[in-house]
Amino acid sequence: MFDYFPALRPILHRLDPEEAHLWTLRALELGIVPTQPLMLDAALRTTIFGKSIDNPIGLAAGFDKNARVFHKMYRQGFGFTEIGGVTPRPQAGNPRPRLFRLAEDEAVINRMGFNNDGMEAVRGRLVAHRTADMLVGVNLAANIDSEDPADDFVTLARRFSPHADFLTLDISCPNTANGKMFLSPGPLQDLLDRLSAMYGDLSAPKRPALAAKIAPDIEEEELDKILEVLTGFGIDAMILSNTTIDRPEDVRGAQKDERGGMSGRPLFNRSTALLSKVYAKTGGKLPLVGVGGVSSAADAYLKIRAGASVVQLYTALVFQGPAMVTRLKLDLADMLRRDGFQNVAEAIGADHR
Ligand SMILES: Cc1cc2nc3c(=O)[nH]c(=O)nc-3n(C[C@H](O)[C@H](O)[C@H](O)COP(=O)(O)O)c2cc1C
Repeated sequence: MFDYFPALRPILHRLDPEEAHLWTLRALELGIVPTQPLMLDAALRTTIFGKSIDNPIGLAAGFDKNARVFHKMYRQGFGFTEIGGVTPRPQAGNPRPRLFRLAEDEAVINRMGFNNDGMEAVRGRLVAHRTADMLVGVNLAANIDSEDPADDFVTLARRFSPHADFLTLDISCPNTANGKMFLSPGPLQDLLDRLSAMYGDLSAPKRPALAAKIAPDIEEEELDKILEVLTGFGIDAMILSNTTIDRPEDVRGAQKDERGGMSGRPLFNRSTALLSKVYAKTGGKLPLVGVGGVSSAADAYLKIRAGASVVQLYTALVFQGPAMVTRLKLDLADMLRRDGFQNVAEAIGADHR
């Protein structure tokens, strides 16, 4: 398998990180990014959100906020995608620079602040590009100047429900003022009640799976309260985790003190610990999406063994390019077989048994 990325990376990484990302999106849109070999392996085939997918590796939210290229990412090797975060009204996000590469750490810090084209534009592209075989999620967020953030989520859920396999309630964004207000049980319960009422009112209810996404910067007590509210509501899945505002001591990059959420390798241990904890607390009954610092098959396998039904990644693409997804899948299938698992499903939560 020819991998062009090692030759391209020095050029891309001389660009400002956000510019490099925009060029990547343009290249994907133009169809000039070479596709990855179709790598179908029965051991990787799995089911989540009621749909069978080729492999359990998903594209995490934030890469394709505006639904421009998600449909191209399946041929880059992904088994599913998540678009967004999207807000009801278009939003500029925070002033630039707001995205930083920490090359030594294979990490990224971002404080994008939910820059996106707004739900109408994003929905239009989603509908235009999506085919029935694609498992797609939509990551939802409130506008920064919203007077009623819960209403934003309800509006988004109503608008996107007919077009998504899952909707993510991002209740953990470190980069906007109201990004974390639903980490309090009261406002969270109110949000979920209003979502239930909205789905109850729809004449032909199509309720996609609802997932909640949280960050590792959460106290145990806070986590327990949130889980009680979410499971009481009947949440369908959790996505663990978002970026962290913490900076582990071994992070060395010159820009490590930039404000924002950190993703990539230094997030792996913290996000996997949270995943494992939530798996244990929910008795393995709740489907979990493991995300945070996955940069190899060994990482993906650890997330699955810790309790993830599927995994997602973003930052590893910045440092390794898309062929890493293909390598990861090949190696993951080998690891599953080596340990006597017929498929991904058999390995979920194995470290808890
Ligand atoms: C530039 C950037 C933008 C992101 N935007 C969002 C977002 O809008 N909503 C969200 O839930 N997560 C967002 N994330 C977080 C990712 O979905 C993921 O949870 C996090 O990056 C950890 O995975 P990784 O280490 O594989 O990148 C973003 C991450 C990055 C790097």
